[in-house]
Amino acid sequence: MAQESDDDIPRVAVSTRLNDVRWQQLEVTGAARAALLGTQPCVLWFTGLSGAGKSTIANLVEKQLHALGKPTYLLDGDNVRHGLNRDLGFTDADRAENVRRVAEVARLMADAGLIVLVSLISPFRAERRMARELMQPGHFIEIFVDTPLEVAEARDPKGLYKRARRGELKHFTAIDSPYEPPEHPEVRVETTQCDPATAAFQVLSVLQQSWQNEAAQNGMMPRAARAAM
Ligand code: ADX
Repeated sequence: MAQESDDDIPRVAVSTRLNDVRWQQLEVTGAARAALLGTQPCVLWFTGLSGAGKSTIANLVEKQLHALGKPTYLLDGDNVRHGLNRDLGFTDADRAENVRRVAEVARLMADAGLIVLVSLISPFRAERRMARELMQPGHFIEIFVDTPLEVAEARDPKGLYKRARRGELKHFTAIDSPYEPPEHPEVRVETTQCDPATAAFQVLSVLQQSWQNEAAQNGMMPRAARAAM
């Protein structure tokens, strides 16, 4: 049942949602879709400061997977904020909601059989953990694009750090809003030590290893792992 809210937009009460909506069992499973596409779906989650190089590396990884014939989709924070998340800003609560929505979309896309790349600052451990927990074990690869603040700020590709330092942009990550670095990422890329192509190779190697581990666990070598070798 819809409830009237202060701004006259009907909203559905949480208790109503939980009690009245049942999960619908569907006949075509995620595994069947993945088999049809010949993929091992997963989420590659790139986290790091603004200007760290997340999008550059994610783009390179996607290009290489695409060239290998893999179905992919890259969810980039800046782009998603133009559409799905255009109502969100940069308070802690809005960032948590930004990450939650993108994580849910990534899960749906992986369920559709895609290899999903996510490039979001995603500054909080709790939300990144939540994103991980939406996926099957081994199907979430967290990539920490580790660039020190001084380096990201010196790059300042969009001029945002300058504006944040002048106080024109509030809640800017690592200036007046926190960034919690991952403690146990599957991949840590130090962008001061390697170029983007090397970083992309590092990510692809870990992805390939995870495909091989899964194939070994299942006692078989799926098409996706074979094709990647
Ligand atoms: S997140 O923290 O909610 O994950 P997201 O990755 O979607 O952030 O968006 C970050 C992008 O928004 C940055 O690349 C930058 O271009 C832009 N941006 C604008 N304002 C801010 C801000 N206050 N803090 C960080 N990024 C900002």
